[in-house]
Amino acid sequence: EIQSITARRVWDSRGRPTVEADVKLANGVLGRAIAPAGASRGTREAIERRDGGTRLGGRDVQGALTSVRDRIAPALAGMEANDQAAVDAAILALDPSPLKDTLGGNATVAVSLAVLHAAAADAGKPLWRHVADEFGRTPSLPLPEIQIFGGGAHAGRRVDIQDFMVMVPGASSFDEVLEVTSEIYFAAGEIMAAKGRVAGVADEGGWWPVFDSNEEALETLVAAIEKAGEKPGERVVISLDIAASEFGGEGRYRLALEDREMDSAGQIEMLGRWLDAYPIASIEDPLAEDDPEGMAEFTRRFGDRVQIIGDDYLVTNAVLVREAAEQGACNAVLIKVNQAGTVSESIETFRAADGLGWGSVVSARSGETEDVSISHLATGLGGGQLKVGSFSRSERMVKWNECLRIQDELGEAAFVGGAPLARTWWG
Ligand code: PGA
Ligand code: ZN
Repeated sequence: EIQSITARRVWDSRGRPTVEADVKLANGVLGRAIAPAGASRGTREAIERRDGGTRLGGRDVQGALTSVRDRIAPALAGMEANDQAAVDAAILALDPSPLKDTLGGNATVAVSLAVLHAAAADAGKPLWRHVADEFGRTPSLPLPEIQIFGGGAHAGRRVDIQDFMVMVPGASSFDEVLEVTSEIYFAAGEIMAAKGRVAGVADEGGWWPVFDSNEEALETLVAAIEKAGEKPGERVVISLDIAASEFGGEGRYRLALEDREMDSAGQIEMLGRWLDAYPIASIEDPLAEDDPEGMAEFTRRFGDRVQIIGDDYLVTNAVLVREAAEQGACNAVLIKVNQAGTVSESIETFRAADGLGWGSVVSARSGETEDVSISHLATGLGGGQLKVGSFSRSERMVKWNECLRIQDELGEAAFVGGAPLARTWWG
């Protein structure tokens, strides 16, 4: 039974304020979680409550802390922590607006996740096991997507494309994925160094993208995979997050780096050429969130050979997932708990995607913390993928490392391997 809920201001990986919630049960058990924060947000995702004004760039969260203290805590007191659905329904009843702008999605997600942690601790189970048991899933370690170059909103728009990532579907364990990725990450760094192009790392820990074109980043990624002793397209494949809403909309796509403007058909042609030229098995937000026709056309043309993930396009919303399926847009969904605002809505979205035969990728945000909830969620829900940024900086590594601890409990054989990419040419 929930006895008290408190919230405090803590700081994220960019040094920005965010919300941490503590949920205490009557028997003294504690659950704790921290809200992450995105930089390339979808317009339909839950809105963070930020104070505005000039202090801390307008980003302070005193209002969100007030939401927890004055509204959410009293409403949840006395409820059972293991009834996540009832807890989340009670939160939603306080703020029925779809974007949660009264309470703030940062307040709701911190509390919702902290309740999940409290219930797991109360049951004496690790979070991944509790998630699997509560939601009737078979746990498995996810297939990671790991960023090598950061771009877009995470790198001052130095290149237009946001994430240049690798996946290792041919690995036989989670541990092996990380070893292979580490070799590629440092091979990429050495290539950049040899060209005098090392300029630190972007928001999610990937190398800062000092390139003359977006495609040069892809070429360099292929070179890094080769330098690491791998044959691109065999054990290792490429995954891209285009984050097209950041440079496209209203039917126009503008690549600033190449001073090039295209319509939706042009964007699809360009990406189609990349799919032919590089071993790309997964692509996220290839078209803008206001371009359903483009997304459906892209899926019609390439959906039988590449995973097409909706992030900004679907904002972890089950209704939007079903709508997209009807329109023939996307074949996978990104699951960001703070886009939905509660655990229950995120699971509902996961289930909607799963019911459609879609893939799902549990994902971090570009503003992260030491919170490792998503490593457990991805494992507990099973059969999926995990995206947390690159292979440096502890707010990223803490998620990968947590999966290694889970691997010790669950066993190496519980790695999902390449199964999520069965629909791509890799499978
Ligand atoms: P964000 O972006 O966390 O900065 O919004 C991450 C993504 O687009 O996947
Ligand atoms: Zn994205």
